[in-house]
Amino acid sequence: MKDPSLLERLRALPCGQQLLKAVAGRDGVHLVGGAVRDLLLGREPRELDVVVEGELDALATALGPAATTHGRFGTATVQRGDCRWDLALARAEHYARPGALPVVRAAGIDEDLRRRDVTVNAIALDLSSGQLRAVEGARADLLTRRLRVLHDASFIDDPTRLWRIARYSARLGFELEERTARLAAQAVGAGALATVSGARIGNELRLALQEPDPLAALGAAAQLGLVPWMVADDDHDPDRVRAALELLPSGEGRPDLLVLGASLAVAEGEAEALLAELQFSVAERAVVRACAQAPALALAARNAATRASALARVLRGVPVEAVALAGAHGAQDAARRWLKELRDVELAIDGDDLLAAGVPEGPQIGSLLAATLDRRLDGQLGPERDAQLQAALQARDSRHTRSRSGQ
Ligand code: CTP
Repeated sequence: MKDPSLLERLRALPCGQQLLKAVAGRDGVHLVGGAVRDLLLGREPRELDVVVEGELDALATALGPAATTHGRFGTATVQRGDCRWDLALARAEHYARPGALPVVRAAGIDEDLRRRDVTVNAIALDLSSGQLRAVEGARADLLTRRLRVLHDASFIDDPTRLWRIARYSARLGFELEERTARLAAQAVGAGALATVSGARIGNELRLALQEPDPLAALGAAAQLGLVPWMVADDDHDPDRVRAALELLPSGEGRPDLLVLGASLAVAEGEAEALLAELQFSVAERAVVRACAQAPALALAARNAATRASALARVLRGVPVEAVALAGAHGAQDAARRWLKELRDVELAIDGDDLLAAGVPEGPQIGSLLAATLDRRLDGQLGPERDAQLQAALQARDSRHTRSRSGQ
């Protein structure tokens, strides 16, 4: 089947245009996977995966000077400006044991398509002729919006595919075809996920959390039984998480970790072990942990909300993701006020100013600065440096007086 309009759609994308230019005069080069699926659906492809029959170095070089080739795997990645192309030699593969990485051998494009996960991802667009090749049923599944695995052992061979179909169903609104749903349930029931390393599962979870609608992706994963650690449907309030995402200052924080923290329903120790197993870093785990404690934080923030300095004491040092989530747990005004206004309030003086004014080095410096900042937050002091220095020194003097009089 030929679909010249697909080549035109590809040419309309800056990275597609460069690809077609580099391909000119070469045979056996195909766009594959999600890119073809998305073009056929009228969606913008997220990435351009290219399969080459024969030899890929020449195409990699034509695409750009910065090609990273992985000879052993017959793959190359080329990055040029904002464009990135993943190239691979057409190959067939087999799995030595469930969950293992595949063993590959060179093959033609038709065999390459047959090794793939679901029919709608097993379509190739020949970049010189505009010819489409696909596994049986692929076009029909695309039309009826169905996810159908190509082999009965697909999820056993590669259990990460369970996560992939969760993401696709959430993102594309596709349904699992009946046999595929049954095979997925059987694989989960047989413990297929345990045959894959925590790092690989963690990577799949990260991809789900980075989906345009991560909550929908997690929801689809929950339906497949992939996330036993997730809050039960009844307790899950996606609107609350969405409200928290809206409170997150734009361009700041990690929405993915916020969603994860809001979705965890296991005790702290268990969550730590799970996240470590999934290869989340110490810093990432701290954010998730703080998010998981958002309900308690919300209560503390509400109780402190009448005084800015008290609120600051509750929220200072707390990751923004957890503050936003606490906001969505009923402390919206407090979270907004902290994020929009209070956290940026700073003193015009620092420890050196106090030293220069005769305050001896030691912990008193920090506590005087903190007391002065409290007054600044509570609106008792303006931004002027002199006034702040005076206030800090007065605080020191009144402490002296109190300690001399034994108060
Ligand atoms: N693939 C597969 N099995 C996997 C991983 C990948 O069959 N475990 C195949 C699929 O054909 C997939 C293609 O490799 O479409 C490219 O992989 P990837 O880029 O991960 O998938 P896309 O569908 O292109 O990704 P997305 O739409 O999520 O960007």
